Amino acid sequence: MDKSKEDYLEFMKGAVAAFAPGRIEFLGNHLDYNGGIVLGTAINAGIYGLALPMEGTDFSLFSESFEGAKISGSLKNLEKQSGKKSWGNYCLGVIRVMQDRGLAPLHGFSLTLSTDLPMSAGLSSSAAVELVTAQCLLQLAKQQVSKKELVNICRKAENEWVGLPCGILDQGTSAFGENDRVVQIDCSKEEFSTLPLPPETSFWIFDTGIKHDLVDSHYGIRNQECMDALSILQKNNQSIKYLAECPSSLLEETDMPENLKKRARHVVEEQNRVNLFIHGLNNESVPKELGSILTESHTSSSHNFENSVPELDFLVDLLTKEEKVLGARLTGGGFGGAVLAWTTSSFSQQEAVSIAQEYEKKWQHSPNFHSFLPSKGAGSYDPLLKPEE
Ligand code: GLA
Repeated sequence: MDKSKEDYLEFMKGAVAAFAPGRIEFLGNHLDYNGGIVLGTAINAGIYGLALPMEGTDFSLFSESFEGAKISGSLKNLEKQSGKKSWGNYCLGVIRVMQDRGLAPLHGFSLTLSTDLPMSAGLSSSAAVELVTAQCLLQLAKQQVSKKELVNICRKAENEWVGLPCGILDQGTSAFGENDRVVQIDCSKEEFSTLPLPPETSFWIFDTGIKHDLVDSHYGIRNQECMDALSILQKNNQSIKYLAECPSSLLEETDMPENLKKRARHVVEEQNRVNLFIHGLNNESVPKELGSILTESHTSSSHNFENSVPELDFLVDLLTKEEKVLGARLTGGGFGGAVLAWTTSSFSQQEAVSIAQEYEKKWQHSPNFHSFLPSKGAGSYDPLLKPEE
């Protein structure tokens, strides 16, 4: 073995690595924290993490995506980050939850993240960062947990350390993804399964580039509005535990402020759409019929949940005029970010370029677009080998 290889192996001693994919919210908008059933798909792009053990109890966090934002600290005293270092809160929250559960390493480490995932496009880079951090730390600490607990750790980190009251769609999809399948999550029971997608269909993401920072956005307000609507409904019917399980008839006959009714209507009807979609998938409905359910979801986001923006509405309108587009909708939290177009597999790069050009004529900036494959979920790999395809 030549000297450079020997030095490399010495440097990499004890190194561990993990990958977690980004995800596309396929259907089930804002249902997760309302106890609904959601559909997501893990994609073939994500976050890679490499961790090396260090002596002592200091750690460092580095991401290639955030210039000049390396974070150093002590495991004995975790500190919340702000400004350009705030990306590190997704890792720090995970370290804290794992420490509380006795799962974190007691010795220091360095964790380096790299990515091929477009940032701020509603593809949940944050959940992927959390999952990669958790998997690297588990390996360093020689601990193992179930995928379900992994999801729980990461969601708790985001709720409590980052401060976003999200559900488990992002972490659950990234953890449980499988090739060519959508992940179905029953969020009230925290149950995960997968469903095959119709063959010959593709996913395209058109990213408006409009800043999608959920922590600063109306996400928390929408969450609160849903909880307020739920408490009003519970006064009439105490057996309702989650907004997503409220019957439409009860919602419509209950008096509540108009904004709350609209948010609740979106949630209740979105749950019906998800159920219809799953039923259709299981009964081999034609993809065009299934796709129209996605487009109806967008209409409801735009009118009832009011988490769309004109640029997203414009993209959905453009896309759904195309024969090869089965359905299109905003994906993720909303208030900017990206549109998912579910298409036949014959939808081409050239057709995507035409859509982008039409958009640019109207908005004077071009959306980024990408096509993704439904892919397998998060996992660890040997850092001395390439992760398997
Ligand atoms: C974001 C959140 C998810 C989910 C979606 C909306 O992606 O992180 O938990 O609530 O928005 O469906």
